[in-house]
Amino acid sequence: MGVEIRLVEQSDEDLARWWRARSIGYLTDPQAGEQELAYLREALDPSRTWGAFEDGRCVATFRGFVQEVTVPGGPLFASAAVSGVTVSPTHRRRGLLTRMMEPYLRRAKESGEAMSSLIAAEYPIYGRFGYGPATWLTDFRVDTLRAARPGLPAEPDDRGRVVLADLERVRREGPELHERVRRIRHGMVTRPPVWWKKATGEYRLAESAWQEPYCALYLAADGTVDGLVSYTARDTWRNGVPDCVLDVKDLLAATPAAERALWHYLCSVDWVTGINAPSRAPDDLLPLLVGDARAVTPTACSDHLWLRPLDVPAMLTARSYQAEGSLVLDVHDKDGLAAGRFLLEAGPEGASCVPTDRTADLVLPAAALGSLYLGDESAVRLAALGRLEEERPGAATTADTLLRTSRRPWCPDIF
Ligand SMILES: CC(C)(COP(=O)(O)OP(=O)(O)OC[C@H]1O[C@@H](n2cnc3c(N)ncnc32)[C@H](O)[C@@H]1OP(=O)(O)O)[C@@H](O)C(=O)NCCC(=O)NCCS
Repeated sequence: MGVEIRLVEQSDEDLARWWRARSIGYLTDPQAGEQELAYLREALDPSRTWGAFEDGRCVATFRGFVQEVTVPGGPLFASAAVSGVTVSPTHRRRGLLTRMMEPYLRRAKESGEAMSSLIAAEYPIYGRFGYGPATWLTDFRVDTLRAARPGLPAEPDDRGRVVLADLERVRREGPELHERVRRIRHGMVTRPPVWWKKATGEYRLAESAWQEPYCALYLAADGTVDGLVSYTARDTWRNGVPDCVLDVKDLLAATPAAERALWHYLCSVDWVTGINAPSRAPDDLLPLLVGDARAVTPTACSDHLWLRPLDVPAMLTARSYQAEGSLVLDVHDKDGLAAGRFLLEAGPEGASCVPTDRTADLVLPAAALGSLYLGDESAVRLAALGRLEEERPGAATTADTLLRTSRRPWCPDIF
């Protein structure tokens, strides 16, 4: 019998088989106990979770769901997200991923979803399916002794304060703060309730060791929760001298004052000589907040959120633009989903984007548009790489003037 691809049933047995296959692909603990089954029941969209089955065993997994991605200017834009993609080592490179991905994108397009989003485990997997990297992450390491020498990040003067919070309070107040923060930072995605339950230990899955984090909130003078940080610590001593490291799990701030206050707080915890702050925006305030920017070292930088256009006019009219201008984009798409020639007329007041038969200014594959969409990638850079063609001299510069954003997009979450 061949491999059958079908929706996963909500029975314990089917969910456990799906989880085991996913864990084999991700090289994580495959046990599906009560916690995992409860988590899956809450996390999965049964109408978009597929498995490939052979002789009663699940050998490939694919999970779709709808999420919102914040686009430049603040609107939350629905995207057909992809996650939980695995093919067991026994069945790799026989086209199973392709058999799950292609119909998913076709169905998303048919139901009017304008783009798809995912986080790529490995860079080379998804370009062929029309995705391009749209946001990047930087991991920072702070040498707190050096950061403190010319001065810690100044404490804000807005009479706010940092208070410790238990996980119950984080569960209660964190989601609302996140809702505010994601409206002011493009690239961020929906955090469903299940995200908070996992982050605060309500779900403790065997695949990730649980350590209760310390949490602190920043309260503005009027008591509004404007910031949240959660972190764990490693209690290490050398020759009787503390040499402890903090690992930041999450740091959200709705105002620059909150951001400054939370970094001030972290940098001044006694005994701490180093802070690991992973998954920050490449243009995070942190290095310039401390007196000595060299006290903050980027230790890793990698692509994070990938986007795949499905409906170019819907995408391009959803976001805002900092400048006025027009461009004719000829979008190529071997799968036909986003292909077409479109006239974009954009400005700070809004944009229109319609099919056109005018001469193209730029010819580009759908994946390149995915990379440009949130304003992080440069069209001039992609032209230099041969990944888009300038039919009208200067068109790539015009594209950058229109599409690029003052702050870089940031998606801190893994989904
Ligand atoms: C990545 C993975 C899902 C690919 O599944 P698969 O069924 O082997 O993929 P397909 O057979 O449909 O491959 C389609 C094409 O992509 C290529 N491809 C697939 N995975 C690739 C990878 N990791 N790197 C480079 N190319 C890859 C294949 O070679 C094939 O190319 P071709 O059409 O030119 O021959 C599978 O290898 C896997 O589970 N890996 C471990 C978990 C993982 O990384 N998951 C992705 C999470 S985002």
